[in-house]
Amino acid sequence: MILTNDPIRLGLTAALLAGYGIVCLLPWLRARRARAAARAARAAAGDSPWLVAYASQTGNAELLARQTSETLRLAGIAHHLCEFDDLDAAALQGTERILFLASTYGEGDAPDAAARFAQRLMARSDLQLGRLHYAVLALGDSAYSSFCGFGRALDAWLAARGAQALFPRVEVDRSAAPAIAAWRQQLSHLAGTSDAPDWDAPAFGEWRLAERRHLNPGSSGAPIYHLELEPAGGAALPAWQSGDLVQVAAPAEPERPREYSIASIPADGRVHLLVRLHRHGDGSHGLASGWLTQQAEQGALVRLRLREHRRFRLEANGARPLVLIGNGSGIAGLRGHLKARAAAGQARNWLLFGERDPVHDAFYHEELQAWQQDGLLARLDLAWSRGPDGKEYVQDVLRRQADTLRPWVAEGAAIYVCGSLEGMAAGVDQVLADVFSSTFMSELASSGRYRRDVY
Ligand SMILES: Cc1cc2nc3c(=O)[nH]c(=O)nc-3n(C[C@H](O)[C@H](O)[C@H](O)COP(=O)(O)OP(=O)(O)OC[C@H]3O[C@@H](n4cnc5c(N)ncnc54)[C@H](O)[C@@H]3O)c2cc1C
Ligand SMILES: Cc1cc2nc3c(=O)[nH]c(=O)nc-3n(C[C@H](O)[C@H](O)[C@H](O)COP(=O)(O)O)c2cc1C
Repeated sequence: MILTNDPIRLGLTAALLAGYGIVCLLPWLRARRARAAARAARAAAGDSPWLVAYASQTGNAELLARQTSETLRLAGIAHHLCEFDDLDAAALQGTERILFLASTYGEGDAPDAAARFAQRLMARSDLQLGRLHYAVLALGDSAYSSFCGFGRALDAWLAARGAQALFPRVEVDRSAAPAIAAWRQQLSHLAGTSDAPDWDAPAFGEWRLAERRHLNPGSSGAPIYHLELEPAGGAALPAWQSGDLVQVAAPAEPERPREYSIASIPADGRVHLLVRLHRHGDGSHGLASGWLTQQAEQGALVRLRLREHRRFRLEANGARPLVLIGNGSGIAGLRGHLKARAAAGQARNWLLFGERDPVHDAFYHEELQAWQQDGLLARLDLAWSRGPDGKEYVQDVLRRQADTLRPWVAEGAAIYVCGSLEGMAAGVDQVLADVFSSTFMSELASSGRYRRDVY
């Protein structure tokens, strides 16, 4: 150790030590301030745990709910995270603060996991919610006529029941960042913290279009393509589960990515997609599907990110028999599940699939036949709307097979539906409600045994 009597050196050392002390103290001071603010917030809320409730179909509202929950956790605010269908009248009446994050589906409807909440609780005009303080983050897309329809209806219902808004409803159009920032700011204010975690959405990565095959040349329907993509520049393949989605940012509209269901599992080494070329009324091609299927050359770079789609994953249903129902490009998500089932050696699978005609539109037919021969696909029913034997849709086949369906469901089967929302999904939903009952189907949806990836 070197000792010195030099007053300048001594002064400098003292100043350095003081500066170091302040730097060390700063985080502690900040944390102390946050804890004090959280204590004040808890005292204001009567110390009862808050609820963060989400209604999400494809995961946007769920991700924001998890980020909201993380902000509350950092602020030291006790809370529970739940889905809308976990809430009952007692929870609404017994909780003082609920943050609702609600997306809109169908035509102004609630997402599937909030169907029971919407049908049963929101139908009640007798419920008194005078104790409840709430906030609503409504997610939607202004291209739909009923923009944020469900979030708005929820807000109006809560207000009519006497609940008090903590701040005005925040509406998010197509995941727009400024609205999310506004929610985050209100939340930080409410929780008394400035230490909000990073809320950036996962970044897009560069992928290479490794393969593209036209699956239905000669079909009277719109062309549909099988695409295979791999991470560019030798990057590692990220993990995903069957049921998950990708978002593709097309060069013409990068700020409005399009969703596609993943048709493969990581063991395939590539992300497979099934993309239908969309045509606008004037005959021009859809922006993303036109680019992916017509303009992008094989080997082209595609900006893409994977998205967890928890509502459509197998999860606990992996141990159950599966009834997989879909049409058109909907075979993509169902193929992902069938691949996962084949890899796991799970044979109790029944696929019902509908397209136009068996000559041109029998997508992945050889693969399906091989699974059948190997005992991995217990049952396969195909419906052709322009087949040689007349016109039949997948929901017609389902109705005809009601006596087969009942024992599958009685044995615990889970039902997965993938493809068109209009026509197919609504038709299938009606048949299921007729065969079982709409109450039973909404129970099945709430318990995760009826899952849909419909668009
Ligand atoms: C969860 C989910 C999963 C999906 N999975 C698949 C799949 O596996 N395979 C598949 O082929 N498709 C899938 N889709 C559909 C896909 O995401 C695209 O919607 C489809 O490819 C059409 O996009 P596009 O860019 O080609 O057409 P667009 O150019 O977007 O045209 C489609 C329609 O959108 C409207 N539109 C376009 N731009 C705007 C705008 N800026 N503002 C308002 N309206 C606009 C127009 O009315 C047009 O008719 C899925 C969608 C969802 C939500
Ligand atoms: C099939 C379908 C129907 C939709 N219907 C509506 C609608 O009626 N009104 C609206 O504002 N947004 C609608 N949207 C947009 C979604 O609400 C929006 O994409 C939201 O971010 C989805 O959030 P989630 O991932 O939490 O489900 C719809 C989206 C899809 C795919």
